[in-house]
Amino acid sequence: MCGIVGYVGKNKAVPFLLQGLEKLEYRGYDSSGIAVFTNTGIKIEKKQGRLKILADAISTKEDLNNANLGIGHTRWATHGAPSDVNAHPHKSKSGKIAVVHNGIIENYIVLKNELMEKGFEFVSDTDTEVVAQLLDDMYNGDMFDTLKTAVNRLQGSFALGIVCDDYPNTLFAVKKDSPLIIGLNENENYIASDIPAVLSKTQTVCRLKENQIAVLTSEKVELFDFDGNAVEKTVSKIDWNVESAQKNNYEHFMMKEIMEQPEVLKATISPRIKDFDIKLDDIEFTKEYLENIDKISIVACGSAYHVGCVAKYFMEDILRKPVDVDVASEFRYRNPIVGENTLVIVISQSGETADSLAALREAKSRGARVLSVVNVVGSSIANESDDVIYTWAGPEIAVATTKAYSTQLSILYLLALYMAKKLNKISEEKYKENIENINRLPSLIEEVLKSENKIKEIAEKYLDKEKIFFIGRGLDYATCMEGSLKLKEISYIHSEAYAAGELKHGTISLVDNDTLVISLLTNEKLFDKTISNIREVKSRGAKILAISTEDKVSKINEISDDSIIIPKFCEMMLPSLSVVPLQLLSYYVAKFRGCDIDKPRNLAKSVTVE
Ligand code: M6R
Repeated sequence: MCGIVGYVGKNKAVPFLLQGLEKLEYRGYDSSGIAVFTNTGIKIEKKQGRLKILADAISTKEDLNNANLGIGHTRWATHGAPSDVNAHPHKSKSGKIAVVHNGIIENYIVLKNELMEKGFEFVSDTDTEVVAQLLDDMYNGDMFDTLKTAVNRLQGSFALGIVCDDYPNTLFAVKKDSPLIIGLNENENYIASDIPAVLSKTQTVCRLKENQIAVLTSEKVELFDFDGNAVEKTVSKIDWNVESAQKNNYEHFMMKEIMEQPEVLKATISPRIKDFDIKLDDIEFTKEYLENIDKISIVACGSAYHVGCVAKYFMEDILRKPVDVDVASEFRYRNPIVGENTLVIVISQSGETADSLAALREAKSRGARVLSVVNVVGSSIANESDDVIYTWAGPEIAVATTKAYSTQLSILYLLALYMAKKLNKISEEKYKENIENINRLPSLIEEVLKSENKIKEIAEKYLDKEKIFFIGRGLDYATCMEGSLKLKEISYIHSEAYAAGELKHGTISLVDNDTLVISLLTNEKLFDKTISNIREVKSRGAKILAISTEDKVSKINEISDDSIIIPKFCEMMLPSLSVVPLQLLSYYVAKFRGCDIDKPRNLAKSVTVE
């Protein structure tokens, strides 16, 4: 978690540091801080709370604003509560060295005890402070040399930005298991945890690889491995610009991202379909390989896990192979039955989720082939997988995922159809029909988005509910899980998703006059069954919001208090349509309740800690 930035150049550092941190606030916003090089050495300003508080504190300090070198940090608290003192940067005992950090130093207690015995005093509860103190302890007058030795003492994950009093023109950075990029420009260079932070300055970036140290001045950037050998930079041009990382005219990123879904789905799907043939980039699964797979195992967290839950239904249905779906934090510790004949699919928007990355490593260590579905190019999960399929969703800034979820789902449809065809599990006619259906997804989602105003009215009606259940069967149940998570994470309403047939085994005792039950009914075969479940909750006083297809309007209106109607479509892909009203509903409920939609409390976009 956390976001770090750094600047070295001929211009003022503070404007870049602040705007870079603003772009990284999605990584955490418990506190923020900067350390800059002034006429009287390194000075730190850091504050608990949102970046605005820090910006106000800095605005009157001339010496800080004149600096040409600095580092910055936006925090998601792991070790130590959100507070001024636990905010980064952290300074060393001598005051010579300041450090910002993203990741976790796992052996910090051992190091801290060692340093305390040597007389070092610690002021914060963070793991990061030991890095500053350790560097101070080991410092031999040559920072690069010191870093080379110090990194071998650190266990865990760390992207570090470092400034030192003896180096008024040099910024040091280190990467191990936490993301770090370098932005390259004329007369100035930058470090950042993610690309949007540098985009207003440059589109030329270099992603640090594992176990690298970077030394930046205004004129040049040099990279080294942990043994001190110089290594080549891999520089790339980013083809999305700063506007695409901005809100444009939307009030919130979440709404912008919901509305972008047709466009990003098209970008994700169309390059992969050529004359009814599915091309999964450079990936080739032979018929023999697929026949030998005895199981597909999908591993992910949060919404990405829900994509896996939806995929299980249609993959098992058409491939007739078992598909396990696991939450990554459970998979990694439960001695999973995974081996050479398992295809493990890791789904992740950020590509940096710590549990998903650890699950990937676990699966690989057991001999499984790992395919990842990832949005962030070059991220850790993408780098470590045997095969990667990128979702072309573009940067997703809102903490609540919407467009990444939809593009992930579309990749899983493509994958299932690709495999079914290779395995002769689908007729040519059915296959072609499904390819046409995938191609129709963007325009159908556009159609669903037109219900925005109606959904807004429904949201206003139910915004005071404190208890909301989502019920559905089959694919609808899997979509309910996502709808429920979306609603609770941004509106703070307690909601749960249940398989409709399961309610009477306990949960129905919670249903009363104050309950709203949101019911999804998109499956022909299960329609009447779910209607019976709706009757059960209705007779106990619940209000009903039903979401179903256009052929069911009269039946739905008869039983529900409110309804949202989506186009009739092939059932396997209906989850892509039915999730959209749930995203809009969550958005408007949260907005009417005055919630911080893009940055819900206690959350961060990218969960890079266990
Ligand atoms: O970056 P990832 O897709 O690996 O993130 C996984 C979850 O943290 C993420 O989907 C989370 O549940 C979302 N905030 C939900 O909207």
